[in-house]
Amino acid sequence: MSDGGTARAGQSERDEARKVAESLTYLSGFGNEHSSEAVPGALPVGRNSPQRAPLGLYAEQLSGTAFTEPRAVNRRSWLYRIRPSAAHPAFTRAGNGTLRTAPFNQTAPDPNRLRWDPLPEPGPDTDFLAGLWTLGGNGDVTQRTGMAVHLYHANASMKRVFSNADGELLIVPERGGLLLRTEFGLLHAEPGHIALIPRGVRFRVELLDATARGYVCENYGAAFRLPDLGPIGANGLANARDFQAPVAAYEDVEGPVEVVNKFCGNLWSATYGHSPLDVVAWHGNYVPYVYDLRRFNVLGTISYDHPDPSIFTVLTSPSDTPGLAGVDFVVFAPRWLVGEDTFRPPYFHRNVMSEYMGLIEGAYDAKAEGFVPGGGSLHNMMSAHGPDRETFERASNAELKPQKIDDGLAFMFETRWPVILTPQAARAEHVQERYDAVWEGFERHFREQ
Ligand SMILES: [Fe+2]
Repeated sequence: MSDGGTARAGQSERDEARKVAESLTYLSGFGNEHSSEAVPGALPVGRNSPQRAPLGLYAEQLSGTAFTEPRAVNRRSWLYRIRPSAAHPAFTRAGNGTLRTAPFNQTAPDPNRLRWDPLPEPGPDTDFLAGLWTLGGNGDVTQRTGMAVHLYHANASMKRVFSNADGELLIVPERGGLLLRTEFGLLHAEPGHIALIPRGVRFRVELLDATARGYVCENYGAAFRLPDLGPIGANGLANARDFQAPVAAYEDVEGPVEVVNKFCGNLWSATYGHSPLDVVAWHGNYVPYVYDLRRFNVLGTISYDHPDPSIFTVLTSPSDTPGLAGVDFVVFAPRWLVGEDTFRPPYFHRNVMSEYMGLIEGAYDAKAEGFVPGGGSLHNMMSAHGPDRETFERASNAELKPQKIDDGLAFMFETRWPVILTPQAARAEHVQERYDAVWEGFERHFREQ
């Protein structure tokens, strides 16, 4: 096929995928005990594993937590599928491309403030998996601690199926819509949404636009959950009902399907004789989901001072120490600023936690320029950061009338350990050489009287 023919075929595939994506219905609620069947009668009633499952399906449990973890955090689902997952040939090692996994120990941990432009254009036929490019991370995947920051830039839909034994994948699209075909059914994510694929769940990413670009937080630790609300009360921040899980949908496909499995940092590949996205019915609370960040209920001051950005936490992966997250996912969504006698942009600070920030659209209120959609910044443990000089001058002299911040959607992966760069991120052509300059030229204003 000519290049023009290939492009047309790609366009019609994307149009078809978009039609599917825009017709999806969902099950709502974070962590709910959902149940769904694509064919009536496929779900057994009153038991998980009857002697013979309905419709000749195989019953299989997928455990996201240890069997014995407390009920409130226990996550598992039962899947009823055309063939058991166990029916597959041996995996063999495949190349890891630009995907890397903790422990990250190939560069010296860097105390400098760092910032990157967006990833360069991908090569031809780069699917989501091939387009994943690891910036860095922390912890140790074999200990199920820590996280990795990835970016992706893709221009082709996946034909293969991927699953990640190493952790859950929090996908943050910045450009281009995605149709995620998972074992549990289909999800649609556009820029401004997040999609979460739990550890071990098989999926394929189809593109709805010519290119797709964004960010991924790979969380090796405890599964993301909604933060406790304390004195905020029973409502607010990300509301549980706005998280959407798929309804059951299956592929009944015979023939070779490549399945790639990431296990302890390496990609392994096997060719199945059928599609493993063959789950006809399922029930449980271990599910993929999507969430529209614009539904985040942003809370802030109505008197003075700037609350700590933890008030913007969407999801948290707790550690064994109460209040200390392995990683938090935080969003800076449109909001009103009304604080009196207050420096309103994010304040100067140094933080024991390490902060990777990305921008989904628009601008971020602490940076006048240089922090662009698809780019990112890293402020590691105790590095000094905050508004740039231009923002500081403007905000220090602004008239403090109510102000709507409505032209940007930024986010942060905030982690308890420093983010250690991969060599490809440390030496990337798109790393900004002069990021420190945004804090140059602060005038001395101090006078003893
Ligand atoms: Fe910060």
